Amino acid sequence: MKYVIGIDLGTSAVKLLLVNQEGTVCAEVSRPYPLIQTKAGYSEQEPEQWVKATVEGLAELVQIFTGNVEDIGGLSLSGQMHGLVLLDPDDHVLRNAILWNDTRTSAQCHQIVETVGEEFLLRTTKNRALEGFTLPKLLWVKENEPDIFKKTSVFLLPKDYVRYRLTGKIHSDYSDAAGTLLLDVMNREWSEEICRLLEIPVEICPPLVESHTCVGELLPSIVRKTGLSPHIKVFAGGADNACGAIGTGILSTGKTLCSIGTSGVVLSYEAKGNKEFQGKVHYFNHGQADAFYTMGVTLSAGYSLNWFKNTFAKREDFQTLLTGIDQVPMGAKGLLFTPYLTGERTPHPDSVIRGSFIGIDASHQRSDFVRAVMEGITFSLRESIEIFREYGEEVDSVISIGGGAKSPVWLQMQADIFHADIIKLSSEQGPGMGAAMLAAFGCGWFPSLETCAEVFIQPEKTYHPIAEHVEVYNQLFGIYKQVYSQTKALSEDLMKFRK
Ligand code: XUL
Repeated sequence: MKYVIGIDLGTSAVKLLLVNQEGTVCAEVSRPYPLIQTKAGYSEQEPEQWVKATVEGLAELVQIFTGNVEDIGGLSLSGQMHGLVLLDPDDHVLRNAILWNDTRTSAQCHQIVETVGEEFLLRTTKNRALEGFTLPKLLWVKENEPDIFKKTSVFLLPKDYVRYRLTGKIHSDYSDAAGTLLLDVMNREWSEEICRLLEIPVEICPPLVESHTCVGELLPSIVRKTGLSPHIKVFAGGADNACGAIGTGILSTGKTLCSIGTSGVVLSYEAKGNKEFQGKVHYFNHGQADAFYTMGVTLSAGYSLNWFKNTFAKREDFQTLLTGIDQVPMGAKGLLFTPYLTGERTPHPDSVIRGSFIGIDASHQRSDFVRAVMEGITFSLRESIEIFREYGEEVDSVISIGGGAKSPVWLQMQADIFHADIIKLSSEQGPGMGAAMLAAFGCGWFPSLETCAEVFIQPEKTYHPIAEHVEVYNQLFGIYKQVYSQTKALSEDLMKFRK
C-alpha cells in the first residue's frame, strides 16, 4: 500500500493527514499555534510557528505510522488564504504575517479602487478590493513600514512559505495567487498593470505553478527532523477553499459546498471564468487546472461560536455547550444574532460593522444564545446562497463540512435555512483531504482529480429540508437581513470606542 500526506495550514492549527490509496485516513495529527491580536482589527501570526508545528506534526505522523516510510510517496499543502509573508533577499521573514481576517486596510482598499479603477480591477482580478486580501496588506506595509517594504525581495502566502521551508523552493499556485488581488485570474499571470499603477515591483511576486505540480523534494534537514523519505515528492497544493472543494468532490458544474470553519464559506464550481457576479461573491481559480469557483464568505462563522464559548463557557467543551440546543425552538425564542464580530465580507463588504444580539429577553437562557449564534451564522451563509440563486445557479443540494457538519442539529438547521438537501460525507476532512488528493493525483495514482474523488469521497447521510421549518426560517431570515442596515450607523458611531 502507498500513502500520501495532506497538510492543512489553518488559522488556529495545522492538521496533517496520512491517507492511503483507498482514501482512508490512517493517521491524523494536529498542532495549534496562537493568533496575535495587538489591536482591534489586527490579526497576525509568526510564520516560524507554522513551520515548527508542521515539522513537529510530520515527525509525529511518521512516528505513529507502522509501515515503511518509503511508501509515503508524496505530500501537498492547503493553506489559509490571503496572508502576507514578506522575505528579504536572504529569504528571512521581515515581519509577522498579516492574516486574512485582519481588517486594518480599509484606506488601502479605497486607494486601490481610486488608482486602478473599479472596472479594471473587477475585469482583471474578478474580485473587489477587500481588507482581507493580500494586495491591501502589501500597500499597508509600504505606507506604514516603508523600511520593511524596501527590503522585500518576495512576498509569499502562508502555505507557500511553509513549503519553501520544507523544500527550499519559492512558488505560489494559481488558486492561492487568485486571493492576492494581484492575479489576472483569466490569464493566470500576475497583473503587471496593477503592480505598475500601485508602484509595487512585480519581481516580488513569486513564480506560479499548478496545484498538482511537483515542486521538488524535502531539504535534508527536514528529512532528518521528520524521518520522512528524501524521495518524497512535494506538490504545490492550493488555497484552503480550493482544497476544500477538491476534498469534497466539488469538481464539476452544479456542485456546492458549505464549510463552517473559523470563517464560513459557500462555494460553487465554475467550469469557466466567464460568469459575471459583479464582485458580489469572490471568483477564484480552482485547484483543478483551468477551473474556477465562486464563493461567499462569512468572516466569523465557527469563530463566533468559539468566541461565545471562550467568553462565556471557557471551561466547557463544545459538546456540553451544545447540550439542549435541540430543545430550543427555531428563532431561539425571539433572539437573533449577527456574526459580524470581525466585520463582514458577503454580502456586506464592511470592516466596521460589528455583531449583535437582538431581542434579548429576561427569560433567555444560555442555550438560547448558543442556538441564536448557530442560526445567525447559518443565516449569514444563506445570504451567499441567495446571491448564487439570484444569478441563476441552482442550489438544491449542498455538501456540508467543518464544525457545522459535526452536529446533526446544525446539519438539519442548514437544510431548513438553505432550503436545500445537506449532504454529510462519511469521512470528512475537507482541505487536508484536498491536499492529499492533489498529492495522490500528482503521484500518478489516478488519471484525474475526479477519478480520485470517486474513490476517496463517499456521502454518508442526507438531511432534507422540513417544509414547516423552512417556512419559519424564511420569516426569521427576512428579519435577520434587516439587522445589517439597521445597525450599520450604530457600529460606525461605536467605532471610536473600540480599543
Ligand atoms: C477566504 C478566506 C478564508 C480563509 C480561511 O477568502 O479569507 O476562508 O481562507 O482560512
